[in-house]
Amino acid sequence: MSAQLAIIIVGASGDLAQRKLLPALFSLYAQKLLPAEFRVVGFARTPRTDESVRARTAEKLTCRYTPEPQVCAELMARFLARCHYVVGDYGSRDAFLDLADRLRQLTGSLGGGCLFYLAIPPAIFLDTARALGDAGLVSCAAPGDPWTRVVIEKPFGRDRASSDQLAAELARVFIDEQTYRIDHYLGKEVLQNLLVLRFANRIFEPLWNRTYVRDVHIVWKEDLGVGTRAGYFDDYGIVRDVMQNHLMQMLALTAMEPPASFAAQAIRNEKVRVLQAVPPLRPEDLALGQYAAAERGVGGRPAYRAEPGIPPGSCTATYAAAMLRVENERWRGVPFFVECGKALDGPLAAIRLRFRDVPANLFVNALPNLPPNELVIRVQPDEAIFYRVINKVPGLNLRLEPSELNLRYRTAFPEVIPEAYETLLLDVIKGDKSLFIRADELAAAWDIFDAALHAVEAQSEAPEPYPYGSRGPAGRAQLAARHGLELEPMA
Ligand code: BG6
Repeated sequence: MSAQLAIIIVGASGDLAQRKLLPALFSLYAQKLLPAEFRVVGFARTPRTDESVRARTAEKLTCRYTPEPQVCAELMARFLARCHYVVGDYGSRDAFLDLADRLRQLTGSLGGGCLFYLAIPPAIFLDTARALGDAGLVSCAAPGDPWTRVVIEKPFGRDRASSDQLAAELARVFIDEQTYRIDHYLGKEVLQNLLVLRFANRIFEPLWNRTYVRDVHIVWKEDLGVGTRAGYFDDYGIVRDVMQNHLMQMLALTAMEPPASFAAQAIRNEKVRVLQAVPPLRPEDLALGQYAAAERGVGGRPAYRAEPGIPPGSCTATYAAAMLRVENERWRGVPFFVECGKALDGPLAAIRLRFRDVPANLFVNALPNLPPNELVIRVQPDEAIFYRVINKVPGLNLRLEPSELNLRYRTAFPEVIPEAYETLLLDVIKGDKSLFIRADELAAAWDIFDAALHAVEAQSEAPEPYPYGSRGPAGRAQLAARHGLELEPMA
């Protein structure tokens, strides 16, 4: 039997595995990006057969890269024939020994490497990692030998201290070189383009600083509530779920200095440097909210506290806005307003740079207040990069209006836009760590939020309510106004 790549998804019956990981692996397979010989082995507690797992997985696979139905159906059948399932308890060495036996039967030799994806809840993370190690599944390969790599998902602890402790415990099982800390936002197409936009074009970088930029607004919002993840979310809240990771990655890519090269190490060095230049968030610069019921839609929208699995007195924030600063030569004095929330007025992930006013308005008779130029990088939905400029409306008189120079991905590029997990899983297989979080980067991101989170939790006050489907709590605009910011909606 020839050397095989084994991809083991620990937590295979969960939402992440079903909705994201297996479809991403199929997309890689459909594009012939997986090695010729590979096996995908799901591991979870729920008893299932290979056949039932395949049937369930088939429902989630899509034909984005191979739209011809017959071709896609054949590819799916071939992919599913390479998917298997092993049942067992996560913390059990014996269960992982069973997994090892099954891997040996399926793959013969693992010359193609062994990728473990730990798609499991934080509470069982460490026990699972230890059991994997005890079963001898995580070997440190010598050069040329088959490799073992382990992908781990956030939350990486609850604060700096617990994150450091988790890292120290995990280091007993996997060495840092084997560990891939994933933040799926780094796999998003538009965010990967950000460094290209900034550093492969001459026109942006000269303006990308405090002299020309008035403020930076980074937003992530969803129009849905907590869904089926009540237990996890209520324990962690929105700052730990989204702000400390996805938003800080967006901030780092926006604010970092040019790296010495495009190598993983150089990029991550600059991201760490810029995160370390963000002073710890002051509790008064953090506005929190929790969604309340709204009457919109059939049957209305429930309050967070009325969602299944959420304690009726929960003080967990579902919305957060923070006013951050980047204390360096490039950004001193520029407010970075970052906000994220669930059950808001629509899905959006975007970065907006608003530029300073033109020093003298020549067109005061046509437009007394020139709105500022803006550059918006819309990560999702409807990926786009656009510049708001003031333009003359065609006609015989002088009428000025803001217009957009718009690069809309959907119309500009015929290519399929890859899902973040496709990009990231392929990188793990290739051993490219550029888009994964380094330990010092994680520590720097925690340092920004540690003190504010502890201060808020010591008060255990209920966050300000906001109606489901709104823009967030009143505290959002108040925080912005205290720092002289007006929050116009982002297009
Ligand atoms: C996850 C968070 O990391 O990202 C979720 O845990 C959130 O709460 C999700 O919904 C959003 O990801 P995306 O790619 O759908 O924007």
